[in-house]
Amino acid sequence: MPASEGYDREKGELRSPGPQKQKSLPAAVARQDLGGKGGRPTAEVVAEILASIRAQTSRDFSHYKMTTVERRIERRMRRLQIRDSAAYAALVGQDLGELQRLADDLLIGVTSFFRDPNLFVRLSEIVLPEIFERKAAGERPRIWVPGCSTGEEAYSLAMILHEAMEARNCHYVVQIFATDIDEQAILTARQGSYGPQIEERVDSERLQRYFQVVDGRYQISKRLRGMCLFAVHDLVKDPPFAQLDLISCRNLLIYEPRGPAAPVYDL
Ligand SMILES: C[S@@+](CC[C@H](N)C(=O)[O-])C[C@H]1O[C@@H](n2cnc3c(N)ncnc32)[C@H](O)[C@@H]1O
Repeated sequence: MPASEGYDREKGELRSPGPQKQKSLPAAVARQDLGGKGGRPTAEVVAEILASIRAQTSRDFSHYKMTTVERRIERRMRRLQIRDSAAYAALVGQDLGELQRLADDLLIGVTSFFRDPNLFVRLSEIVLPEIFERKAAGERPRIWVPGCSTGEEAYSLAMILHEAMEARNCHYVVQIFATDIDEQAILTARQGSYGPQIEERVDSERLQRYFQVVDGRYQISKRLRGMCLFAVHDLVKDPPFAQLDLISCRNLLIYEPRGPAAPVYDL
């Protein structure tokens, strides 16, 4: 999801919408809005909007949790002060910019470093030692992070992996395959440059060890970057990665992006 007005990638939070600027709408849409009934988008309207997105992008949201899709449509409608969902569907059908903004919003790229810190502690204390025990010398632990958004989850894993290996004095070449359908998010992840807000999530020892300060931003170290391979990948359509020791797929399946035969569910 490219930086959208309502979402702070680095904080991993939705920003308060704040005072809204009235956006100018195509005349036809504005007219429909005046005569519209308002209310929740109907199933037909949602289907029409998703069909427009499917036609213009390769993204198919028809298998996503409908309440989430509806909420995102309503959020865009509020932002544009459109009350009639049919009018909004018409706008999406004729304005590629709005179509792209909604498609990006639907991906919901909220993320942060060490989201649910206790989980990372449990991974570090219970799961990683088991993985290391199973590995023979020279074997590479392989981890997949589908829906990695802008990289924070993958880099958090890289940090605890590095620490766990150091504590056991074992040094595997770890491969973290971190993937997302959102190309822009993958570019940001590859850059590995985060704003000072990450100080709220990453303790000062890790900031010192794993980042360099460059132009007031935190640049992830080469050591961690070398552990992570970022790629665009659609969990619904593309084949899953194989021979994995751990899949960390967090806050993605809750939106139920399951195609009729999403390959990931075969794992
Ligand atoms: C809420 S974020 C979760 C980010 C991270 N896993 C975390 O827990 O902090 C959901 C991510 O899933 C991605 N996503 C949504 N549908 C996807 C799909 N079909 N294939 C791959 N990624 C997808 C979105 O682009 C978004 O970056």
